[in-house]
Amino acid sequence: MNEFNQYMQRCLQLAEKGLGNVAPNPMVGCVIVHPEHGVIGAGYHQTYGQAHAEVNAINSVINKSLLQESTLYVNLEPCSHYGKTPPCSDLIIQHKIKRVVIGCLDTNPLVAGKGIEKLWNAGIEVFTDILKDECHNLNKRFFTFHEKKRPYIILKWAQTKDGFISKQPPFTKKENWITNDESKKLVHTWRTQEQAILVGTNTALIDNPALTVRLIKGKNPIRVLIDKDLKVPLTNNIFSKDAETIVFTNKSQLDVNNVSYHHIDFTKDIITQILNTLHDKKITSLIVEGGTHTLESFINKNLWDEARVFTGNKHFQSGIKAPVITTSKITSQMMIGEDELHVSIR
Ligand SMILES: NC(=O)c1ccc[n+]([C@@H]2O[C@H](COP(=O)([O-])OP(=O)(O)OC[C@H]3O[C@@H](n4cnc5c(N)ncnc54)[C@H](OP(=O)(O)O)[C@@H]3O)[C@@H](O)[C@H]2O)c1
Repeated sequence: MNEFNQYMQRCLQLAEKGLGNVAPNPMVGCVIVHPEHGVIGAGYHQTYGQAHAEVNAINSVINKSLLQESTLYVNLEPCSHYGKTPPCSDLIIQHKIKRVVIGCLDTNPLVAGKGIEKLWNAGIEVFTDILKDECHNLNKRFFTFHEKKRPYIILKWAQTKDGFISKQPPFTKKENWITNDESKKLVHTWRTQEQAILVGTNTALIDNPALTVRLIKGKNPIRVLIDKDLKVPLTNNIFSKDAETIVFTNKSQLDVNNVSYHHIDFTKDIITQILNTLHDKKITSLIVEGGTHTLESFINKNLWDEARVFTGNKHFQSGIKAPVITTSKITSQMMIGEDELHVSIR
């Protein structure tokens, strides 16, 4: 692996530590390398609203005079605008860093090439597109948000070997459970990584899920519920105090405590209306956890990016059929105990 790729790989590893904590910002890692002293500084964007990766990396350098002979590696184009923090490109220029190596450009219209232009204009050598695809993929949520004006959408469900997502109600939770404890833990990890989680009315009524993170440590996502006629009682777990809940409804209803209501027109395409609202709220990623009707609403409109499907070791013989996706490419496949997990992209 050449030197550029090697240090860019390190930036990616650092950047990923911000997963679940930096959204709606991108995950960014930065490494500073001196030709004789090797790595003299490193950092990553740790928390939304706080210092960017470049700032943390530059601050970690003890002998700042070495910066003038050094190369700064970063997986995303340095910002050029005043957001919650001052522009990173200005800081790089101020420290007279010799060379900047960038993974991929920032498509956020506030940056989009302007960061690089500033560096060039200051006489800094700039290299771009190093491990470009890996850098783009790491920030798939951020890029989808800016380029498609909607959150990155992950569909997730569990199905039986004979293709059912659920028995026909009524049933006990235990009877209807498809996957094992390890898979359940993994789902909780995924929840900490996304900004929002959505379910349909029937799932909220029948399963009464809390949609929070309980099996591991981490942040609860914002819960999103489709409930046209406000059938789901406020006593249900989806409204618990542990997290915020957004309800999309046909009714006019005042917000209460952690629950906000958004009136949408159910005679029109509701998925687009929901995604537009989530975009306005700067939600960059959404995990859709069922049921079939809701998942199919996203599938039928081709409004999804990734599907994570567990197939457990049970047969229900009858019940609610699981969704079927045909236009996807499987990117990974693994066994979790007796559960099979397929991850695919559209
Ligand atoms: N195995 C799993 O991974 C998993 C996960 C979640 C749920 N489940 C199971 O799935 C079952 C529920 O699935 P389901 O398909 O019956 O229901 P669902 O998708 O949970 O909810 C469907 C209802 O939500 C509303 N809705 C959803 N999308 C809509 C859209 N695009 N436009 C308008 N309204 C929309 C409608 O409510 P209204 O008709 O009131 O308007 C619709 O009837 C439960 O038995 C649950 O146990 C399984």
